Amino acid sequence: MWGGRFAEGPSAIMREINASIPFDKALWRQDIAASKAHVAMLGQQGIVTAEDAKTIAGGLDQVAAEYEANGVPENWDLEDIHMTTESRLAELIGATAGRLHTARSRNDQVATDFRLWVRDAMDQAEAGLVELQTALVTRAGEHSGSIMPGFTHLQTAQPVTLGHHLMAYYEMTARDRSRFADARARMNRCPLGAAALAGTGFPIDRNATASALGFDGPTNNSLDSVSDRDFALDYLMAAAQCSLHLSRLAEEFIIWASQPFGFVALPDSLSTGSSIMPQKKNPDAAELVRGHSGRIVGCLTALMITMKGLPLAYSKDMQDDKPPVFEAASLLALSIAAMTGMVAETKFRTERMRSAAELGYATATDLADWLVRQANIPFREAHHITGAAVKLAESRGVALDQLPLADLQAIDSRVTEAVYAALSVEASVAARASHGGTAPDEVRKRVAEARIALGLE
Ligand code: ARG
Repeated sequence: MWGGRFAEGPSAIMREINASIPFDKALWRQDIAASKAHVAMLGQQGIVTAEDAKTIAGGLDQVAAEYEANGVPENWDLEDIHMTTESRLAELIGATAGRLHTARSRNDQVATDFRLWVRDAMDQAEAGLVELQTALVTRAGEHSGSIMPGFTHLQTAQPVTLGHHLMAYYEMTARDRSRFADARARMNRCPLGAAALAGTGFPIDRNATASALGFDGPTNNSLDSVSDRDFALDYLMAAAQCSLHLSRLAEEFIIWASQPFGFVALPDSLSTGSSIMPQKKNPDAAELVRGHSGRIVGCLTALMITMKGLPLAYSKDMQDDKPPVFEAASLLALSIAAMTGMVAETKFRTERMRSAAELGYATATDLADWLVRQANIPFREAHHITGAAVKLAESRGVALDQLPLADLQAIDSRVTEAVYAALSVEASVAARASHGGTAPDEVRKRVAEARIALGLE
């Protein structure tokens, strides 16, 4: 394709290091679509004859049918998907194939194909996240009133509801969706027509190719068009952030499934056994989601570092943009699917969660708040009185509401019988009805809004 000025062919090493076909064959659908849009425009503009445009488009359809049936052949001499397709086209339709590359370069071609691919990956992430959110709001709705310990520092802090805890991940994944949507809107301009770097002297119609490929319009600077990989980085940033959320959720399931917690029984279908310890049921899927997030962050880092020192316009380093994006996309899709199954099918052991909330003095803040409200004691003093009550309960190995009134009154005479109503875990969560709080009514309200947003109602 470019041998004209060379006296010698490339060495074996050159062929191998140069070949991107082993991975960029994944772009074949986008490459065919972009070539068809390009040749239709060339025909319309009279840059090639209508007849040649038709022959080329028909040939591209035939190449696509072959790829669909047999896969993309991997010949290193043809370097990449663009040359592979063009060379097959030439075998099928002859010399007319050579007119396809008029007013185009592989630089704008690959920028276009890759954008189309990344755009699909964004849409795939969006669809997967909708499924995950559907599972989250469904389970949260079932457990709007199920009480569990809420933690800070992984130490029991205050009772919360399981529904509230799950809805926290709804909020995180809603932001993830908006990150993909923002990135998609920003990237949706078509670089085709930037040619090698400077634009072209042919009377092309960039609006026509842009709209044929579903872009909002053409890009505005030819140098930027062929050099920009922000769109891939935006995608990876959104994917990395999303994978961090999935990793945190996975981590919670791992902790909750451990025997000392026993908060959940994970689905058999997303667990594995041990070849030596017959009792084991390991949370491997969750652990791999946690592990994959590290790899996805690595993909983001890899492409950032590839791009950071490149002068305008295209440099071959940019061929290395694809493997990290492809890898991140497949890891992310798997991770979203695994967590969707985990959320949908895990058995929540609500009685264990509830009794864990009752241990650990989770309602100590409620005692302090009661002293503030009912006895008009400044919060700092109430905090101190409550600390003494916890110390006493701990020394006796009982819960706060198991301390006799006389003992509480010995700590502070202003305590009355009425305090016990505030010390139950139910009273504690019901009291936290501030906007976004854990009270079951608040959780139900947010679940209802989320169900409407997801189109479930
Ligand atoms: N395989 C190349 C890539 O993925 C296509 C662009 C080649 N352009 C060039 N000037 N050699 O980046």
